[in-house]
Amino acid sequence: MPLLIKNIKELLQIREPDILKISGADMKTLPTIKNAYLLIEHDTIVDFGSMENCNYSDIDQVIDATGKIVLPTWCDSHTHIVYAGNREQEFVDRINGLSYEEIANRGGGILNSAKTLENTSEEDLYKQSIERVKKVIKLGSGALEIKSGYGLSTENEIKMLRVIKRIKKEFPIKIKATFLGAHAFPKEFKDNKQGYLDLIINDMLPKIAKENLAHYVDVFCEKGYFSLNDTQQILEAAKQYHLTPKIHVNQFNAFGGVELAVKHNALSVDHLEMLNESDINALKNSNTMPVALPSCSYFLSIPYTPGRQIIDAGLPLALATDFNPGSTPSGNMNFVVSTACIKMKLTPEEAINAATINGAYAMGISNQYGSITKGKKANLIITKQVPSYNYLPYAFGENNIDQVIINGTLY
Ligand code: NIG
Ligand code: FE
Repeated sequence: MPLLIKNIKELLQIREPDILKISGADMKTLPTIKNAYLLIEHDTIVDFGSMENCNYSDIDQVIDATGKIVLPTWCDSHTHIVYAGNREQEFVDRINGLSYEEIANRGGGILNSAKTLENTSEEDLYKQSIERVKKVIKLGSGALEIKSGYGLSTENEIKMLRVIKRIKKEFPIKIKATFLGAHAFPKEFKDNKQGYLDLIINDMLPKIAKENLAHYVDVFCEKGYFSLNDTQQILEAAKQYHLTPKIHVNQFNAFGGVELAVKHNALSVDHLEMLNESDINALKNSNTMPVALPSCSYFLSIPYTPGRQIIDAGLPLALATDFNPGSTPSGNMNFVVSTACIKMKLTPEEAINAATINGAYAMGISNQYGSITKGKKANLIITKQVPSYNYLPYAFGENNIDQVIINGTLY
């Protein structure tokens, strides 16, 4: 049954079907139609335009969006939303002066979450995770990339990836799964790092590929975690299973990870809080999307990714949450968009482009998601009555979402 949304105050992010990402100065543009309608059939956007030209009078399902803005749902291209338990004690420890690094060195951090996950059944992990998934859909996310990486053993990495697969089956939003076995070295491999790399390469990767559990491969390429050489080994091994890289790089240190990722045709490089000129140069003439995670910078009080510099260099930029129990216990893309404007000096247009079409690109789905385009999936946010779209990032912390449509159906 068709669904008509009429009297839309402003319909945002109208793009031609061949536009898969937006770069540089073009990110300042956000094509819109004021006083618009949009028609959905099944799960697809089939028509839209100015109300003057709206000739659909006999549609039974109609939403009156007077005073409201309609835009594509957020495409959150970097999350660790499947996890067990929380780490609020580490939050308090950081307030009392410990750094993220010091906490990790004491056996906290990723290893802390891995221990909790090991002791959590697959069913319980699923239940905990879907509560978060439901919350972020209500906050306007219509597509999520979800990483493993709190398993750190074959059994538990597969447990996480099976939970992601089940979420994909049970929820209407678009899900992409990423294998992040190389998130941290487990304690038993502290003095045998090659042993853990071999386990990833010879045991985890083949089993995960056989069960078809992941689309992408990720590595936490960082001092104290996985070196350039470690990262290279994993990316090379993942190639034979056709797992495209999406890499955690430059969160705390810049030492060539961006260049390595680009060399391996990474779909995205994520974090980039520390970025130098050679990283920017490596990204030019590449197909790799730089992804900023401003909620992580906010929560850990670390520098923000120099998004302004990235865009001013003519590059594209995507925004994602990084939702995880340690560095970003929040999956709120509205906050991410606000924070990118406030702290990274992105314009609202740039931030909305980064969180929709470029986010979709960073998870390989921008041919079907991320813009208002005939033939794309009808995943839409209908806002409350707001004065303008600038009000959305401006009124940070306020929930201005009225309704979320996923695959043509009100969620
Ligand atoms: O993207 N940086 C690496 N991984 C996560 C944090 C993981 C954790 O602390 O649990 C991130 O910030
Ligand atoms: Fe992350």
